[in-house]
This record gives sequence, structure tokens and C-alpha cells, in this order.
Amino acid sequence: MNQKDNDRTEHHIDIADTIPSAEPKRQYYFIEQLKKTVKEKSERLGRPLSYKVVTFGCQMNARDSEKLRGILEMVGYEPAESEEADFVLYNTCTVRENANLKVYGRLGYLNSVKKNRPEMIIALCGCMMQEPKVVEKLQKSYRFVDLIFGTHNIYKFAELLYLALTSDRMILDIWKDTDRIVEELPSKRTYSFKSGVNIMFGCNNFCSYCIVPYVRGRERSRRPEDILEEIRRLAGDGVLEIMLLGQNVNSYGKTLEEPVSFAQLLRRVEEEIPELSRIRFMTSHPKDLSDELIQTMKDSRKICRHLHLPLQSGSSRILKEMNRRYTKEQYLELVKRLREAIPDLSLTTDIIVGFPGETEEDFQETMDVVRQAEYDTAFTFIYSKRTGTPAAAMENQVPDDVVKDRFSRLLNLVQEIGRKRTGRFQGQILPVLAESVNEQDSSLLTGRLEQNIVVHFPGTADLIGKIVPVYLRECRGFYYLGERSQEKIYES
Ligand code: SAH
Ligand code: SF4
Ligand code: F3S
Repeated sequence: MNQKDNDRTEHHIDIADTIPSAEPKRQYYFIEQLKKTVKEKSERLGRPLSYKVVTFGCQMNARDSEKLRGILEMVGYEPAESEEADFVLYNTCTVRENANLKVYGRLGYLNSVKKNRPEMIIALCGCMMQEPKVVEKLQKSYRFVDLIFGTHNIYKFAELLYLALTSDRMILDIWKDTDRIVEELPSKRTYSFKSGVNIMFGCNNFCSYCIVPYVRGRERSRRPEDILEEIRRLAGDGVLEIMLLGQNVNSYGKTLEEPVSFAQLLRRVEEEIPELSRIRFMTSHPKDLSDELIQTMKDSRKICRHLHLPLQSGSSRILKEMNRRYTKEQYLELVKRLREAIPDLSLTTDIIVGFPGETEEDFQETMDVVRQAEYDTAFTFIYSKRTGTPAAAMENQVPDDVVKDRFSRLLNLVQEIGRKRTGRFQGQILPVLAESVNEQDSSLLTGRLEQNIVVHFPGTADLIGKIVPVYLRECRGFYYLGERSQEKIYES
């Protein structure tokens, strides 16, 4: 479902002025210029110009893509179904090698599309572009790419797009880092009723396997007033559910001039924006999860009973090597406190298999935590060596066949426990936010419980974006089949 209007009204800028240097004014200047350029080009071709933005990676990238789409639509591009479009942008991820390979694969295909569409503009941005060796390779062997920019200067998209449209050269603009946050740029939401909201950017944790701190830069929090203002606007526009986004939301606010805790921010969101029905957040680092946050979740009527709490490994020795700064025991103790305070909580996690030096005993510790923590779902990853991270230089890399065998044993366990856990609501009537028409069967709608569990139930598209009571008739592994219930739900 698409939202009709941009989230922001336009800043009026007279294009006869000299180019402003202050942001976001400067970008609104280029938006005005782009409007003219796009109109001219479209008149010349006798049809509207089309765009396609393809997103790889995490929710942070998905949110960034909404901002990029916001600008594209504001200047006159229309969304295309496929990559056979006038402007194609890949917003890339580099967290694991296969995320990287996917982009190169698709670029090969884009090159063939461009051969039949010489005026097409191909652009790349996102985390992969922050790696110098990637950019070198693109400059050498992917000359058909027109525009490359990184994560730190994404707010300059309008300006860079203008340069790309008015030049024949490859436009390349990558910054090493930044400490600035530019507010007040447009965005085009994917859903009318839910939205991600960045509360912070970057990461300071330097887990030894992870490339994110290198490509996303240092941690910086947005000011609570700016976050609240954005959410207020979203709520005014019909958004019921927000997801507060950051690599480590539990350390939110520590670097602000007037420090604020994440729990304080959550309370302000809940108190000051009554139109919201659901508040989610992602991701929580176990080392920073405070008792204040547990209490805030417990007391809240709107913070969803779902916590994504990445474990990575169950072995205290490996956790130390990973620089995660908690032990197996501390993690399990945290889970215990969470379960006691919030009994209906869904817990999900991320786990890496095959970190350098991982032995069968270490792996068994991971399996043990999975049994004890009883995750609803776990995202399991095979360790991927990322150049420049401390773990990449570790000598004792685990052989592929050993990793694959561990991975499949872990997956089996995770699925077995997940199925059991998911079934715990069978027979109950619970509120479901209807999100879309079911892809396989158009007589069904697909929605989610606050625990983030998927529910399919008969219904019509007019219910999309509404929270309705659903009788959870049958659990099918990781989702439910249900029926709308006329009974009222009394929330505690
Ligand atoms: N900031 C989040 C995670 C962001 S990356 C956190 O700390 O929880 C998402 C997940 O990708 C991580 O939780 C981790 O499980 C996985 N990941 C990161 N780097 C990886 C690597 N080099 N190999 C395999 N998985 C990795
Ligand atoms: Fe990567 Fe660790 Fe930061 Fe998460 S907390 S983004 S895993 S360095
Ligand atoms: Fe990937 Fe960047 Fe997110 S590396 S996981 S898109 S922060």
C-alpha cells in the first residue's frame, strides 16, 4: 500500500537565488532545480520519468530508501515496477559477503538493461560504498554506473542527483565520517500505517566481526524534540505503529548535550503522542539493556511485547573474542528478568555460527542458550569474514564443512523451539494490525500480533492499517490462521 503524499511540505525556495549553504535549505534548492531538469527531460521523451530504488540490508537502509524515494517523487519521478527505469538506485549492505555479492550480480544485469536505455542513470549508495576497495572496483570495472555516494552524505542526494543528471562523468562522493544529522528532508513511506523512525545513527561497539561501525561511523543520537516532532507528524498522517531504529537503541542519548535515556525517550513518545497504538524498537544490545527499560516496557500499554536481543554466541569465551561485553550467564540472567517482568514477551535473536576459534563445546553453549532462552525466532548467520575487522585477522578460522554442520543443527533446534513458542496463543483472541492482502490467497489479509507473529485471516483490503480482534484458530509453525472476532478485546 502506498502513501499518497510526501511527509513534508515543501520549503519554498526561489531558484534565482544563489545556492544556499545551510542545510536542508541547500537540498531544497537542488530539489527546485531538479524539478525543472526532470520536466524538461520528460517533455523531450514525451513520457514521465520512472525510478526504482532497490534496498539491501537492514531496517536502517529501508528507512534511508524511503527518504531517497521522497526526493525522487518530489522532483517528478514516478515509481516503476522493475529496474527497466530511467533512474535505478541500489541502496547496498555489506554486513556479510553474500550481501555484497548480490549487488555485483545485479549490476551485471543492470548493465544489460542500460544497453537498451542509454539515458538511464544508475546510482549506488549505502554501506558497501563506504569500503574503498569496493569503490575502486566500481571505478575500474563498472564504468556504466553514473553516481556513487555513501552513508554519511545521503542527505545530499538531491544535489548529487542534479550533478548526475547534468554531467556525463561518473559522480563520486564518499565521506569518511560525519558528526552531522540533517533534519527536515522529505520521505515517501512504504506503508501508510507504520513507519520506522531513526533515533540514532552509527555504532560505537566494534564487535570484532562487524563492519557496521566502519561503514556507518560513530554513534550519534537525534535530539528527542526532533524525534518527537517527526513521530507527531507521522501520527497526524495516520501512522499507528512506529519502530524506533538504531544499531544499539539502549545506548540512545548518551552523547547528547543533555543526556536522555532510551527508556525516557520511550516514555515521552508514549505520553506525548496518544494517537499511536504500537511502539516497537530495534536493536537492543544486551550489555546496555537497563532495568529502567524493562520497567518501562512492563508499565507501558503501547510498547509491543517483542524484544530483539542478539545473542551472537552462547560461549562466554567467544563472546569475549567478539567484544560483546557480556557473558553467557549475564545474558541468561537478563532473559530471566525480562521473562519475570513481561511474561507474554516474544524474544528473538541473531546468532553467528563459525566465529574464528569456535569449538564444538562453544557451539554447544550456544545450543544451550537457545534451549533456555526459548526464542520465538532466531536469525542464524554463518560467520562472514569482513576485511578490516579484528576477527578477519584471527588465524583459527573454522572449516566450511564444520560450520555448515553446526549451522544446520542450530537451525533445526531454533525451528523446533520457535514452533512450540509460537503456538502459545492458540485459541486466544488478540489484536492484529492488518498490513497487506495475502500474497498467495487474496481472500486473506496478513497482519501481526504485537509479539510480531504473523497472522493470516479472511478479510478485505479496507481493513488494512486497522487493528482488529482475531481468533487464533490454528498455529502453522511460525504463523497463525485466524478469523476475525466480534468479541471486544479488553486490554490490560
Ligand atoms: N546492531 C545490531 C546488529 C546489526 S547487524 C546488533 O548488535 O545486534 C545484524 C546481524 O548481522 C548481527 O546481529 C549479526 O548476527 C550479523 N552479523 C554481523 N556481522 C556479521 C559477520 N561478519 N558475519 C556473520 N554475521 C554477521
Ligand atoms: Fe555491529 Fe556490534 Fe554495532 Fe551491532 S553493536 S552494529 S553487531 S558492532
Ligand atoms: Fe547492512 Fe549497513 Fe544495515 S551493512 S545491515 S545495511 S547498517
